[in-house]
Amino acid sequence: MTQILPSRTPEERAKAVAAATECLRNGDAVALPTETVYGLAADALRGDAVAKIFGAKERPRFDPLIVHLPDRAWLERVARIDDDSRELIEKLIAEFWPGPLTLVLPRREIIPDIVTAGLETVAVRVSAHSVFAEIIRAFGSPLAAPSANRFGRVSPTSAQHVLEELDGRIPLIVDAGPTSHGIESTIVAVRNGRLELLRRGPITTAQLEAFDGVVFVEAAERPESPGQLPSHYAPRTPLILVDGAGSFVPTADKRCGLLSWKSTAAPTFADVRRLSERQDLREAAANLFRYLRELDNLGLDLIVAEKLPEVGLGAAINDRLRRAAGRTD
Ligand code: TXA
Ligand code: MG
Repeated sequence: MTQILPSRTPEERAKAVAAATECLRNGDAVALPTETVYGLAADALRGDAVAKIFGAKERPRFDPLIVHLPDRAWLERVARIDDDSRELIEKLIAEFWPGPLTLVLPRREIIPDIVTAGLETVAVRVSAHSVFAEIIRAFGSPLAAPSANRFGRVSPTSAQHVLEELDGRIPLIVDAGPTSHGIESTIVAVRNGRLELLRRGPITTAQLEAFDGVVFVEAAERPESPGQLPSHYAPRTPLILVDGAGSFVPTADKRCGLLSWKSTAAPTFADVRRLSERQDLREAAANLFRYLRELDNLGLDLIVAEKLPEVGLGAAINDRLRRAAGRTD
């Protein structure tokens, strides 16, 4: 049985923190809220605990996990910082930690192979979520935590989503309501004082470009980040991406749903979810996975998703939609 513990009142929160910490100490995997999506966390320094994450998610062992740190002080215990990257890393951390930026850095021995899938690098971040922060500090050591969905599926942005994905497979979900960003952290590799963008996310390329020359690495060139496989974030219902819903005419025998960015009236669709009435990209990101799940649960023949403007968070959202459609073009 999977238990869901709320964390609204101080009493509920204290109980949830204690229960989660106890599970983690027992070497179990528990679902925790972060500011991006819900994560499935386990003791990052224990291979047997981390194995439970892979088991519950049915995640292939070649796909490495993000290590969440209690604080900045842990960084150099798990990763190495080269002299030519130090200044840049310090600046990025000062600006974006705690928060939705994951850094891929050379690893230290303390991290078990199962976490990094045998890579010589480790992905690290410090979550800004107050409940997550309280739990990881109480635990006192790094937590490996991928998104709390089964492999290849849409990331969960609420405790209910986690339950849909992992009910009966994990002992505990800590519920802190919907997550604020709604999409997974931005991932950058830091090499020789330069940044390579591995996954778009809440920290936009414009924000990163303010720091140094950001090098864009194409999907084909980064097999080392398997979460970036072309087909990912996939609903069960087939999904296509269009420029505008007006150009799409559903056939009479098909029930189609619309994930809309700009279209308001769409009478030919069986159901519509509008990402943001105000055309606000932050709101659209926060709603994205919930609406995808809702449309996916309607038993439709097809989900038609409208492309967003290819800027900032819009590019990060389009990236998820392309992968939901199983394409990277
Ligand atoms: O916002 C987030 O990042 C959420 C929350 C829970 O923190 N976590 C998350 O984890 O999205 P996950 O496992 O679903 O995605 C992590 C991605 C995967 O695509 C994985 O391949 C990549 O990070 N990754 C992990 N370690 C890596 C490494 N050493 N080098 C390159 N990519 C790595
Ligand atoms: Mg994931």
